[in-house]
Amino acid sequence: MIFYFSATGNSHYLSKKISEKTGDRLVSVSQAAIEENYCYEIEEGERIGFVFPVFFSGAPKTFLDFLKNLKLNFKGNHYTFCAMTCGGSVSMAEKTIKKPLEALGLKTDAVFGCVMPDNYIFMYDISDMEGMKRKIKKADVEIEKIASLILSEEKGDFVSVRGPKFLTKIMYPMYKLFRKTRFFSADENCNGCQKCVKECPEKAIEIIDGKITWIKKECSHCLHCIHSCPKKAIQMGKATKKRNRYMNPYV
Ligand SMILES: Cc1cc2nc3c(=O)[nH]c(=O)nc-3n(C[C@H](O)[C@H](O)[C@H](O)COP(=O)(O)O)c2cc1C
Ligand code: SF4
Ligand code: SF4
Repeated sequence: MIFYFSATGNSHYLSKKISEKTGDRLVSVSQAAIEENYCYEIEEGERIGFVFPVFFSGAPKTFLDFLKNLKLNFKGNHYTFCAMTCGGSVSMAEKTIKKPLEALGLKTDAVFGCVMPDNYIFMYDISDMEGMKRKIKKADVEIEKIASLILSEEKGDFVSVRGPKFLTKIMYPMYKLFRKTRFFSADENCNGCQKCVKECPEKAIEIIDGKITWIKKECSHCLHCIHSCPKKAIQMGKATKKRNRYMNPYV
């Protein structure tokens, strides 16, 4: 069973590719968090996978909270892996989920990392869709390798995009400072479709007096709302209005 969190589809894409090769079942953590589904039965000998995007060199808040609530019913040993997608490097991001996995009685047998299109438009603009498709094609080579290693249940650290290891220590504490919803607003292009309300994994968005409103002070900062809004109506400050949006086109 593969538990994946994905805001713009990259980690979903990686999970789907692994599942196509291995037959492993997929569980969307965003959907599970929205529905508050935390209990899962693991079948005899079934692999257990955790897939997430790297945020500030660590794990997304929603993913971490999900793992803390997760209840797994399993017996005996299960090959357990962690696979991460990132825009540049993963650093030691898997260490940020070590404690909740230990609390579940799990230890990762294998770790993987894969560079995918970067979606962090808060700081800078991102490539157009053609550029993103080229990046996905490049990632396919690594994804094929990862899926094969998981199928044969190889153990070890297979991360080829580690980057500086110290980044997790320095960057991850900064994540909390950026998770403020006061950066977000919906502009005049909003048509009230409520996609953002229904899909926010933190249930942080509502319509109040006909206006899209962030009802929590902090969220996961996953950027799903900003990238998936069909009217490109969600902004973070002023800079994002002209910047590209991205959702992985293959999931
Ligand atoms: C809040 C945030 C922080 C990020 N931090 C990092 C980072 O520290 N290192 C990195 O290489 N990529 C970083 N990224 C890029 C994502 O990890 C990358 O685009 C990932 O593949 C997105 O996966 P998804 O489509 O499954 O959500 C960040 C993205 C966001 C939204
Ligand atoms: S997804 Fe976009 S258009 Fe739809 S309600 Fe949200 S902000 Fe408005
Ligand atoms: S408000 Fe937007 S960025 Fe924050 S958790 Fe919800 S979808 Fe993600």
